[in-house]
Amino acid sequence: MSKSPYPPGTQLSPPEDCRKMRRIIAEDSDWFLAVVPFLSNLCLQSIVRNFEEKPIFEELTPSQKDFVQERLSPSLPLRVTANLISDGVYWKRCCKQRWDPCDVSHYGHSWKRMFFEKHLESIIELFIPDVTDPKTVVAMVPLCKNYVKRLDISQLLPPIKEPQKEEDEYGSELASNNDYDGPSMDHFDFSILLDKLTSLEELHVVYRVKQCGMNFEWKMFEMTDRDCESFAKALKSCKTLKLLRLYESRIEDKKCRLLVKHLLGHPSLRELDFSHNLIGDRGARAISKLLSTSKLEILNMCNNDIRGPGAKAIAHALSKNSTLLSLNLRLNRLRDEGGQAIGKALLNNNTLLHLHLGGNEVTGPTAIALSKVLVQNDTLKSINLSCNRLGVDGGKALEDAMSHNTSVTECDIRLTEVDEQSVSFINQVVWTNQSLEHKKKAKENKTK
Ligand SMILES: *[C@@H]1O[C@H](CO)[C@@H](O)[C@H](O)[C@H]1NC(C)=O
Ligand SMILES: *[C@@H]1O[C@H](CO)[C@@H](O)[C@H](O)[C@H]1NC(C)=O
Ligand SMILES: *[C@@H]1O[C@H](CO)[C@@H](O)[C@H](O)[C@H]1NC(C)=O
Ligand SMILES: *[C@@H]1O[C@H](CO)[C@@H](O)[C@H](O)[C@H]1NC(C)=O
Ligand SMILES: *[C@@H]1O[C@H](CO)[C@@H](O)[C@H](O)[C@H]1NC(C)=O
Ligand SMILES: *[C@@H]1O[C@H](CO)[C@@H](O)[C@H](O)[C@H]1NC(C)=O
Repeated sequence: MSKSPYPPGTQLSPPEDCRKMRRIIAEDSDWFLAVVPFLSNLCLQSIVRNFEEKPIFEELTPSQKDFVQERLSPSLPLRVTANLISDGVYWKRCCKQRWDPCDVSHYGHSWKRMFFEKHLESIIELFIPDVTDPKTVVAMVPLCKNYVKRLDISQLLPPIKEPQKEEDEYGSELASNNDYDGPSMDHFDFSILLDKLTSLEELHVVYRVKQCGMNFEWKMFEMTDRDCESFAKALKSCKTLKLLRLYESRIEDKKCRLLVKHLLGHPSLRELDFSHNLIGDRGARAISKLLSTSKLEILNMCNNDIRGPGAKAIAHALSKNSTLLSLNLRLNRLRDEGGQAIGKALLNNNTLLHLHLGGNEVTGPTAIALSKVLVQNDTLKSINLSCNRLGVDGGKALEDAMSHNTSVTECDIRLTEVDEQSVSFINQVVWTNQSLEHKKKAKENKTK
């Protein structure tokens, strides 16, 4: 109350009843009581007008807060509003003013979270190294760190090239080759930010330039070595991170190994997505080490370059000690060497519920190995083997396995050269299991 600009005892909203009881007989017949605004409203309007110099909010009653939130300008500086105005109408207005489709359900139904996440994302996505002052990012931290849970960075800009360099390009090939490690091509340095965002749980990052048009260069679509080093260190310092998604950034084995090295022993990481990169067997070996030392539950290595040896390493980690529930190796080159290794690993103790081996050039022997898993253990719930040449024998093995009691509720064997009959039998089993599952769930919900 001490901050109030009014003399002590001033009531911001006088009881309305006395006003109604009082009769005023005006000489002017046009005079009408309703035109006279309430003093309390005048006060509130004054608060709204002078909010930047004299922010008064916490002292207000809930209905007065609503009044103020609906009228404050969305362009007030964040240093005034960020930690003062609670989630609600004001932040909804700020969001609607800046972004067109505003789906707050993606943000845990919090407008304030939505505003600060999108605001910070846009600052990082428009950050130009050597031009933008890193302080502009750091200055946001105290304002947004309590509200930012997820960052989805869909673009990272490289530094602006010096114009002379382009002229030189025609000079001599050698000169331009030498230039290559001269100017840094490094992007935004996450290590100035991640350790300070103490609520961050999800981080999605892609090193690319959107709408680059005719300026296209491959360099715009990759993480540099130094980017990787600073990013890896930043990850290590972000103790609250649960989900990391680093995709389409041309990460190869060396960078993968460096990233994993800094993620070993991470206290909270549960989901890792390195899809659409260039990771091969050496990177996969590093990942397998991560699997056996962390509590990772979901791993997505879709569309990389993992072959037999890498898959064997991952399989070994699976059979030893892993908490993994979902493994996606779609669009790699496991072949039967890798596929069979995964199958064998699943025969032992395992926790895996979902397995995706689509488009891996696996054939009959892998189908047979996985059939053994289905017969022996009912942990696995969904398998996706689409776009492989399982062939008639592979299909028969799966069909046979499915006729035993299994708990599979999803089995995709499209485009696998499996016999029609096997396909329809397998689908039959899967459908009945699905409907049984639905019924079970419905029952559980009822009893709850
Ligand atoms: C299995 O992993 C957990 C979690 O990382 C670890 O605490 C435990 O010691 C490991 N057990 C073995 C036998 O490696
Ligand atoms: C299965 O897990 C148990 C406990 O987690 C462990 O003691 C046992 O050695 C494991 N068996 C195999 C075959 O990995
Ligand atoms: C299947 O795996 C689970 C979890 O590792 C284990 O508890 C169970 O005994 C296994 N069942 C069979 C039939 O091997
Ligand atoms: C499937 O389970 C039921 C009930 O547990 C059992 O009676 C039946 O023999 C099992 N079928 C096969 C093929 O294992
Ligand atoms: C799945 O279907 C098979 C064959 O119809 C049946 O034996 C098995 O019990 C079903 N599993 C579940 C979990 O409903
Ligand atoms: C299997 O994977 C393909 C490719 O990702 C996907 O289109 C399909 O929906 C998946 N099948 C199931 C049952 O999820």
